[in-house]
Amino acid sequence: MSSVLVAYASKHGSTGEIAAAIAERLNARGLQASCVPADQVDDLTPYDAVIVGSAVYAGRWRADARRFLRHFRHELAHRPFWMFSSGPVGDPADDNPKWLEPSGIVKQAEALGVRGHTVFGGSVPDEPHGMMLRSMARSTPPEFRDRRDWDAIGDWAESVAAALQP
Ligand SMILES: Cc1cc2nc3c(=O)[nH]c(=O)nc-3n(C[C@H](O)[C@H](O)[C@H](O)COP(=O)(O)O)c2cc1C
Repeated sequence: MSSVLVAYASKHGSTGEIAAAIAERLNARGLQASCVPADQVDDLTPYDAVIVGSAVYAGRWRADARRFLRHFRHELAHRPFWMFSSGPVGDPADDNPKWLEPSGIVKQAEALGVRGHTVFGGSVPDEPHGMMLRSMARSTPPEFRDRRDWDAIGDWAESVAAALQP
């Protein structure tokens, strides 16, 4: 049975929920998936495959996820791995591709042989704290405050599970 690490970096929790949903789907498909914050991973030896995901803020991955990619670059190059970014909220018509997925991260991951990378919609916290978050929540129409598409997330997890089946 393949053991899969789903490592994630999240500030307000919504990316962690995406990572948990991916791990749950992989487990339902007979894989042994663990969902762990990226800054709590110190060894990739126990894992046959890795998924790493990060929330995107100001066009960048969270520092924990950037560090994970850099620190484990040799291990990742020798395992199947995938990655996802999560972020866009608001009207999808206003999405700017430049801010969705950091191109430098994609380049680094491609150099290591990443099997696939994708972007999932993000979510504004229900009870935003701080000026920046509150103003973002106010300016985001309610129907676009949580753009996480659980079907799309499940389908993506299925595609990873299929690639890992013997
Ligand atoms: C100050 C700020 C900057 C953001 N910048 C981006 C961005 O550049 N690109 C993007 O796709 N989403 C951006 N977002 C949206 C977040 O990525 C989104 O809320 C995400 O779901 C947060 O994940 P988390 O709950 O795991 O921290 C931003 C949000 C805030 C509050």
